[in-house]
Parts: sequence; structure tokens; C-alpha cells
Amino acid sequence: MYSPASARYNSPEFYRRCGHSGVRLPLISLGLWHNFGAKDSYENARAIVCRAFDLGITHFDLANNYGPPDGSAEVTFGRILREDLAPWRDEMIITTKAGYYMWPGPYGEWGSRKYLLSSLDQSLKRMGLEYVDIFYSHRPDPDTPLEETMGALAHAVRSGKALYVGLSNYQPAETVRAAKLLRELGAPCLIHQPRYSMFDRWVEPQLLATLEQEGIGCTVFSPLAKGLLTDRYFKGVPADSRASRDTRFLRPDDVTDAVLAKTRALNDLAQARGQTLAQLALAWVLRHPAVTSALIGASRVSQVDDCVGAVRNLNFSGEELARLETILAA
Ligand SMILES: NC(=O)c1ccc[n+]([C@@H]2O[C@H](COP(=O)([O-])OP(=O)(O)OC[C@H]3O[C@@H](n4cnc5c(N)ncnc54)[C@H](OP(=O)(O)O)[C@@H]3O)[C@@H](O)[C@H]2O)c1
Repeated sequence: MYSPASARYNSPEFYRRCGHSGVRLPLISLGLWHNFGAKDSYENARAIVCRAFDLGITHFDLANNYGPPDGSAEVTFGRILREDLAPWRDEMIITTKAGYYMWPGPYGEWGSRKYLLSSLDQSLKRMGLEYVDIFYSHRPDPDTPLEETMGALAHAVRSGKALYVGLSNYQPAETVRAAKLLRELGAPCLIHQPRYSMFDRWVEPQLLATLEQEGIGCTVFSPLAKGLLTDRYFKGVPADSRASRDTRFLRPDDVTDAVLAKTRALNDLAQARGQTLAQLALAWVLRHPAVTSALIGASRVSQVDDCVGAVRNLNFSGEELARLETILAA
């Protein structure tokens, strides 16, 4: 029987306020996109989630389509909750999303009220929950009025099936419009979830400033560039790595000589700071005040331990930042 570590909340500085809300999120959050599907080891999934909770990670990120097959990560997480974590439900922020393809026919993806609310009901059933803490629109839908999509999110809150709502993958201008609608509907946008890493900086020119102005928190996904910004690929492409196991989103071809040249140089910088490369990559996204939490994935317990260790050194000297920019620009 699982019993959480009693020291898990001993570091108050491990939590950052999410925008202008009353919610604080851990600096490192755990996502269940990969490694938690029906095809993955349940015992490993359970060990990762429990270790994360022991380390003070209270924020667990899911979506309807995480698996594979679609939906199975929510089933896995529901089982972990039922068998181990249920007594601590009120200590957790559990999220889900709808937006990408989930079932056939015209109502199985994008941003209609029909799809979002049906999908939320399915997610709750799979996880065995009465409500999620955050329900996200997973991506903007160019063909559905924003009023309809935001109306569906606000309805989820009014019906008690979500405590807060969030946006993912929305551009700055869409975010401002959506946030205004949500405020008017009485369900203010708690959080935005964009991709952000040293290898993908699209949020820097505008989105992060927009979120600060709007008082919206930010949890950034793939801060390790799906594993590229770690030592995972220094000696080739391991058979148990994401680039080998699930080539839909990361392929062996993505591990190019140019990527390796940069990550090796970044690794030297990390070592000089007393960090691993993964820790450097996480500290770097967390340096930005608009970023509430770095949302990582993990295939093993030791990766969670390593990632949480990033918070021991979040400060960068001007010299380190300049060196980093030189490496990234090379
Ligand atoms: N909203 C969206 O559209 C969206 C899209 C993508 C992801 N997300 C969310 O963001 C979460 C994280 O995304 P991600 O998994 O791509 O993030 P990531 O943290 O960039 O990559 C995670 C992968 O990096 C490797 N790794 C992690 N820690 C490591 C360490 N300390 N040392 C060496 N390797 C390490 C592991 O690869 P191996 O598996 O190879 O060991 C792990 O699976 C997802 O689970 C999901 O919740 C959201």
C-alpha cells in the first residue's frame, strides 16, 4: 500500500503562483503523454507517478488522446488513483484536454461544444473522477466560433466537472480574445499550455508578455524537446528511447549531428553549473517570470528525480546566458 513521503511539502519555494489566481503549481509538473498507455508497463507508470508525488509534484497533466491507444493514459492514471492516490485527491491538480482527434465522425475533434463536453464526460469516466481541476481546449479551432468553444469550457466549470479552464496552443491574439470571453462567462482562464524549450522559442516574442498582462499562468510543455535536451542520445539512439519507441513525434532522424553538437556544448555548460543537461534545460525555461511550471515527461523514476533536481540552481549569470545564446545560434 502506497504511503506518500512525509517531507513532500518541505520546500515552499517549489511552488509558483499561477498567474493572478489562488493556485500554486510545482515548478516541475508531470505529463502522461508518453509511457502511460496500455502498451506500457503499469508498474513503471505507477512508480513514476508515486515518486513524483513523493517529491512534491502535485500537478498531473493528461488529455483525452494520451496513450496509445487514445484514452489509455487516463485509464492508467485512474487505476493509480483508485489503488494508491485516492486519499490524496485534494492535494492534486489533475488536468485533461480535448481538441485533437478522439473518435470518428464530425463530433470527435476540434472545438465544438458537442465534442468538448462529451469528451470531458468520457475523460472523467476513464479516470474515475467527479471533476478535473483544469479542463483545456487543446487547440484553437478555425471553424468553430471562439464563443462556442469558450462557452463549453465555462459550462464545464458551471456544471462542476472542472474547477478551472485553460488554453493550449493558442496564439497571442486568440488568447486575449478567449480570455476576455472567459472572464465575461465567469470562468477566467487560469493557465495557458504552450510548447517552449531552448530549441523552440515561439512564445518569446509575444505570448509570454500577453500571459503576464492577462494574469494567466503558464505551464510549458516539452521543455526537454521530447528528450533531445538531455544526455539520452549522446551515444546513439537507445532502443528504449522515445525516438525508437514511438516515432510519430520524434524520429531517429531528428537526432542530427547539428543537434548533438549543440547539446554536447550545452552539456558542458550544464556541468560547469553543477547540473545535468536536463536540469539546465528546465532551469532555463523557469528563468522566465511568466512561466509557472515546466511540464516534463518521463520514462523512468530516475528521470523525475533528475528533473526535480533542476530547482537547486535556477539562477543564470549574464555570462552563462550569453554563452547559451552563442551555442544555440551556432
Ligand atoms: N498541450 C499540448 O499540445 C502538449 C503537447 C505535448 C506534450 N504536452 C504535455 O507535456 C508533457 C511533457 O511533454 P514531453 O514528454 O514531450 O516533455 P519533455 O520533458 O520535453 O520530454 C520527455 C522525455 O525526455 C526524456 N527525459 C525526461 N527527463 C530526463 C532526464 N532527466 N534525463 C534524460 N532524459 C530525460 C524522456 O525520454 P525517453 O522516453 O526517451 O526516456 C522523456 O520521455 C506531456 O506528457 C503532456 O502532458 C502537451
